[in-house]
Amino acid sequence: MRLRVRPVTRLGGRIQVPGDKSISHRSALLGALADGTTEISGYLEAEDCLRTIAAVEALGAEVTRKGPGEYRVTGTGLRGLSEPANVIDCGNAATGVRLLMGVLAGQPFWTFLTGDDSLRSRPMRRIADPLVRMGATIVGRSDGNRLPLGVRGGASLKAIAYESPVASAQIKSAVLLAGLYADGPVSVTEPAASRDHSEVMLRQFGVRVEQRGLTTTLTPGPLSAASVVVPGDISSSAFLLIAAAIVKDARVTVAGVGLNETRTGVLDVLHQMGALMNVGEVSRPLQRLPAVPPDLEPNGAAGEVNAHGARAGEVRGDVTVSSSALHGTEIGGSLIPRLIDEVPVLAVAAALAEGRTEIKDAGELRVKESDRLAALARELGRMGACVSERPNGLIIDGPARLRGAQVTSGGDHRIAMALAVAALVAEGETVIDDTACIATSFPQFADLLNSLAGQPCVSVTE
Ligand code: S3P
Repeated sequence: MRLRVRPVTRLGGRIQVPGDKSISHRSALLGALADGTTEISGYLEAEDCLRTIAAVEALGAEVTRKGPGEYRVTGTGLRGLSEPANVIDCGNAATGVRLLMGVLAGQPFWTFLTGDDSLRSRPMRRIADPLVRMGATIVGRSDGNRLPLGVRGGASLKAIAYESPVASAQIKSAVLLAGLYADGPVSVTEPAASRDHSEVMLRQFGVRVEQRGLTTTLTPGPLSAASVVVPGDISSSAFLLIAAAIVKDARVTVAGVGLNETRTGVLDVLHQMGALMNVGEVSRPLQRLPAVPPDLEPNGAAGEVNAHGARAGEVRGDVTVSSSALHGTEIGGSLIPRLIDEVPVLAVAAALAEGRTEIKDAGELRVKESDRLAALARELGRMGACVSERPNGLIIDGPARLRGAQVTSGGDHRIAMALAVAALVAEGETVIDDTACIATSFPQFADLLNSLAGQPCVSVTE
């Protein structure tokens, strides 16, 4: 599948993007582990998250689709999952497989996991290491570093105080999920703060999770079903907001988007680059929660609970961006984990900004769905951008006069969408190869862009 993108001069409208991918994965997994019935609304119905639903079903949870994005998950309780009858294929989803490994570390049976070509090439030892230290057995290709992997858990795992070498929510979450089965409190210390959706949601499900500086500590205990409202995905929004910043005559509002501070680095950088931006009313919906045994939350530490027993979920709000004169900036350090998935589209903004942008400390981008540093330098370069690759980052000099070209996503959804955004302001038509991957996270991308443009600027061809 390929995308043909024609330039536009206008983008306008108020839209909603589909549910957050990270939060959707977590809602299916925690729903499966909980006692009782979890109701989820706004679930992302894209390939990655549908794989996680299939995975929890294969492990014995009952999932009912009640309507678009509306799911009911009947959990088995922490100890009720059962051995799946077949290999679980997580497709392209690293979050799905890595969080699942954490859960499986606590199951006293073998589960075999695999994924697509991209996922099978990604490192898994970073997850396996702490889980094996806790008592799980993990075997796999490349000496246990690559899928397919087999995971056999222990019924009770050893508690751990894990110092993660990488600021990674996937590592942190896998250890915390395995920690639900540990013989004492489990903590993870990160070099910088990564997204905390697991912590927010575990508290919603009644588990005690505390944060001190860069250390997160979970006290093992059962999960009680909750109702989860998934906000719009800020990572998907970023493509449309940056499109609005670079197109000549544009004003786009994305409504109801997740604004968890551990994810809003992209907005901070856009602000730094001089974007005309407004972050509207921010709310934190209280989400219903069945009664939690009081001993699970001494001092209310398991989460903010209001008088009706509802616990706060994820922060959300509306974000508006208009056409902007952007200038270059520096992006590095603790900002990186707060915008890790937005670097591809930020590189497009940087290519069109006045002056130099330096992206540092971003070596993790080499082990995402593709080597994103190499892909950005190569493919944006084909469109006339001045992007040079560094071992852990990029140097981008702008503003470039982009030209339509034949480019490829290399099977990476975020590279595909970033290139499509660049193509909106290029001279002539751009053809992007290998774009079926967009369906892993944002199947509505082309339709939403066309509706904002008021004309079919993006078309899908075989
Ligand atoms: C994710 C964490 C990030 C991010 C990924 C989703 C998550 O990966 O890149 O798309 O949902 O936990 P790392 O935590 O490994 O950096």
